Amino acid sequence: MAKKIGWIGLGHMGLPMATNLYNAGYDIHVWNRTIEKAKNSGLPYKESLTELIKEKDIIITMLFGSESVKDLYQKIFETGVSIKGKLFIDMTTIHPDTAREIAEQLVKKDADFLEAPVLGSVIPAKKGLLTIVVSGDEEKFNENMDIFNVLGKAIFYMGDYGIASTMKLINNTVLGSFMAVLSEAYAFARKVGIDPQLALTVLENGAGKSLVLEAKKEKLLKEDYSTHFSVNLIHKDLTYALDLAQRNRYPVLLTSVTRELFNSAKAYGLSDKDFCAVLEVFKTLSNYEE
Ligand SMILES: NC(=O)c1ccc[n+]([C@@H]2O[C@H](COP(=O)([O-])OP(=O)(O)OC[C@H]3O[C@@H](n4cnc5c(N)ncnc54)[C@H](OP(=O)(O)O)[C@@H]3O)[C@@H](O)[C@H]2O)c1
Repeated sequence: MAKKIGWIGLGHMGLPMATNLYNAGYDIHVWNRTIEKAKNSGLPYKESLTELIKEKDIIITMLFGSESVKDLYQKIFETGVSIKGKLFIDMTTIHPDTAREIAEQLVKKDADFLEAPVLGSVIPAKKGLLTIVVSGDEEKFNENMDIFNVLGKAIFYMGDYGIASTMKLINNTVLGSFMAVLSEAYAFARKVGIDPQLALTVLENGAGKSLVLEAKKEKLLKEDYSTHFSVNLIHKDLTYALDLAQRNRYPVLLTSVTRELFNSAKAYGLSDKDFCAVLEVFKTLSNYEE
């Protein structure tokens, strides 16, 4: 029998991911807090959260961060629908404490939970090429590999709750720092008069060679800050990473500076722009003008 999936969250990542499951033939309906996004998604949708939870066996959430996930699961509990035997998969990047908290609440209600944050952005999401790290019951993970295989190309089982989210946050310390140092180097090259295209081409054939530069080269050149991964999201992830590091007495020096750079980007009104807009911070610091 085809798995019945309810998908919640149709942001930059949720929409292409849910679309891939629909195209792969799953019996899927979507729901989004701003319901117009569900109506305009081109996917089968439910008007009400209650209806979605009632009718589906597997519920996948792809929201903003810890607060939105807590908020949404609370709403699910408040529907009063029995969730016994249902599987919930959260793919949002959340604080590991939130993952453990949600897992505990669900297990108490005889439901299952997999924590499955993703690495990669909108383009890998559209192509089904994400990397996915998963925590929770290994048997449940294996039973649902078909779903993960539609969404991603590299799937890793990480062990107990909290580990997948921790690894995801550690990955994003690298992502944020790479984006920042690439932007700093690029602004530096421009400030001293090197041709922008040439500077990025040399960097991509030198020490800057990375998935980040590959993904952001054209956006940096065109100063195209249309959003794939927002400043708000990387700031949220680095804030969780800093909290985790403090509690483990691990000094994350570079991550602290990087978080503050994205904090500056927020102060410049770039919160909803793509995180490559951190380039504007370096341009301002160096008083750069064309
Ligand atoms: N974008 C990327 O490149 C990327 C890559 C890897 C991982 N991630 C992670 O994936 C997750 C989703 O990212 P995204 O770029 O798709 O984010 P996004 O475009 O900002 O979408 C966020 C989604 O969460 C929903 N939401 C927010 N607060 C909510 C609440 N309190 N209750 C119910 N729904 C709520 C939004 O609903 P509304 O439409 O109603 O606002 C929207 O559907 C984030 O955790 C992010 O860190 C993103």
